[in-house]
Amino acid sequence: MSIAVILLLVTLGLDGVSSLSAAARTDDIEMAAMQAIAKSTGADRSLGWGVKSADPCDGTWPGVRCDKDSHVVAINASRAGLSGTLSGTDLVDLGYLTELDLSFNRLGDDMPILPRPLTYLTTLNLQSNSFMGMPETFFRSFPALETVVLDDNWVIMGELLGQQHHHLWPLPGLLRQHHPFPCP
Ligand SMILES: *[C@@H]1O[C@H](CO)[C@@H](O)[C@H](O)[C@H]1NC(C)=O
Repeated sequence: MSIAVILLLVTLGLDGVSSLSAAARTDDIEMAAMQAIAKSTGADRSLGWGVKSADPCDGTWPGVRCDKDSHVVAINASRAGLSGTLSGTDLVDLGYLTELDLSFNRLGDDMPILPRPLTYLTTLNLQSNSFMGMPETFFRSFPALETVVLDDNWVIMGELLGQQHHHLWPLPGLLRQHHPFPCP
């Protein structure tokens, strides 16, 4: 065996060992999505997301939980002083997300429009924000949803009632939507 081949084998072998011993690396797409969400919701300022580290799974992003393979599985930024918007194109890139709690903040504009479903999301809490509208296809984006709370937003009831009712009636949070015109 020539020296070159031996060197090549040694190099490959060491590479294998180092990638096994290191923790699973956070997916670039999820990392970019979390960085975008940190900016658009203001969590970079209020919670320091991304300030110490760009990696949402290294324990420096308060309220973000990852699984052992470094996929973002839960986000809880309830009462975190967030304001801004939540983009569906960012959210949909968190393909392993099971829980999202952004309740009691000041997130606004429309509720997110997702380009494809978020397959594993079971818990969604957007209670007490300033969301104005809800896309008609909203619930199609969350086929695994078990718990949903959307109370106390500015979502217009008429928009909801105009939709297919069989999608809506099993979702108790919706029946307590605030009236679109608040008392002063
Ligand atoms: C998020 O955190 C708040 C406050 O700690 C807690 O009350 C709430 O239940 C949590 N949400 C989820 C989905 O676990």
